[in-house]
Amino acid sequence: TGYVTLDVGYKNTGATKSAITFLDGELGILKYRGYPIEQLAEKSSFTEVAYLLIYGALPTADELKDFETKISRHTLVHEDMKKFFDGFPAGSHPMGQLSSLIGALAAFNPLSLKPGLTAAEVDDEIIKLLAKMSTLVSWIYKKSLGHPFIYPQNKYDYVSNYLHMTFGQRTEEVEISPVVVSAMNKLLILHADHEQNCSASTVRIVGSSDANLYASISAGISALWGPLHGGANQAVIEMLEKIKADGGDTDKWIAKAKDKNDPFRLMGFGHRVYKNFDPRAKIIKKACDDILEDLGINDEVLEIAKRLEEVALSDPYFVERKLYPNVDFYSGIIYRALGFPTEMFTVLFALGRLPGWIAQWKEMKENKEPIGRPRQIYTGPTTRDYTDISSR
Ligand code: CMC
Repeated sequence: TGYVTLDVGYKNTGATKSAITFLDGELGILKYRGYPIEQLAEKSSFTEVAYLLIYGALPTADELKDFETKISRHTLVHEDMKKFFDGFPAGSHPMGQLSSLIGALAAFNPLSLKPGLTAAEVDDEIIKLLAKMSTLVSWIYKKSLGHPFIYPQNKYDYVSNYLHMTFGQRTEEVEISPVVVSAMNKLLILHADHEQNCSASTVRIVGSSDANLYASISAGISALWGPLHGGANQAVIEMLEKIKADGGDTDKWIAKAKDKNDPFRLMGFGHRVYKNFDPRAKIIKKACDDILEDLGINDEVLEIAKRLEEVALSDPYFVERKLYPNVDFYSGIIYRALGFPTEMFTVLFALGRLPGWIAQWKEMKENKEPIGRPRQIYTGPTTRDYTDISSR
């Protein structure tokens, strides 16, 4: 009833008050719980950032140890969950698998469906989800190779355990380089939250109906899959490969992106909120250079990316519209250097974003937000009389 304000795409509508992530798109500033992203990416670990996002403060040494120990004790998934992998066709997209697997976790954790969970019970579900996600993400990769699954081991930290389950072998101990562990920590931290983006808003709105944590996160994973959101990291590499195969003529592809009759967009460029450099892109670009050098990789696609960026940043079309590289522009090049296939990139984004989604879900619950239910302005026909099918 009453007056409805129309804001398609919620370009200027605040949906909630939040104390988790601060973002200034004009100045290119991003902070988690007040801590600048640059400091966290440089000094922190993914589990520490997860704790910070979810519980609101950096943990003490004991709190962090307790949090990490609890997670490592829940990394095993129910053996019956493995049967899902038999049902997914070979080559099916990892994001489709991930959203189904995470939704299915509710069936294996019926307590999560109980109304009015206590704070301790909610914490248990959060720990289980953080733990099992890393195992499932690595098993999706193993399934894509047709290789046997590797079970988690408590002797590793969260990120090393994930890398071990991903790149390890049953037949021999595989050493994971500290450079790779550190790069992975950085990438996961940079993706860990981004206030009310499409997937976080999805998690909050699904959770606002009192749907369980697993269902809410599964919905967030589906939202992330789209190429305008997290799926952009896969789309960027595919675009760069196409440009490379086409002879590396970046001017031609910039012209295509500017042509309003051509649906092509420069993937990894532009952002709803940043009208300046995405601070995450700056950190990732530098990390990309460092990691490729450390691993001794010379990737022509990186050169194409840098050329595209240089041309776009001086082109009036991009300058006037304030289109800068976003987080997805360089992340795929690092994932590729670490050995991940392109289709896994968005799943890695989801692994990083999980603590943010959980924090957003928890905050929404704690603030007792009402069910999310936008209004509309109806533009369909007024009343019409039903006509029998024979006279239409
Ligand atoms: N290439 C060419 N033109 C673009 C691009 C691009 N990547 N992005 C925006 N524009 C143009 C757009 O055509 C429009 O022009 P005009 O004013 O002449 O109609 C203007 O810039 C404003 O764009 P918009 O689509 O109205 O902006 P939006 O806030 O609705 O969309 C976006 C933001 C991220 C969806 C969009 O910039 C885009 O499609 N980028 C490419 C996909 C991408 O990299 N997505 C990842 C986003 S960051 C990580 C994440 O969210 O997961």
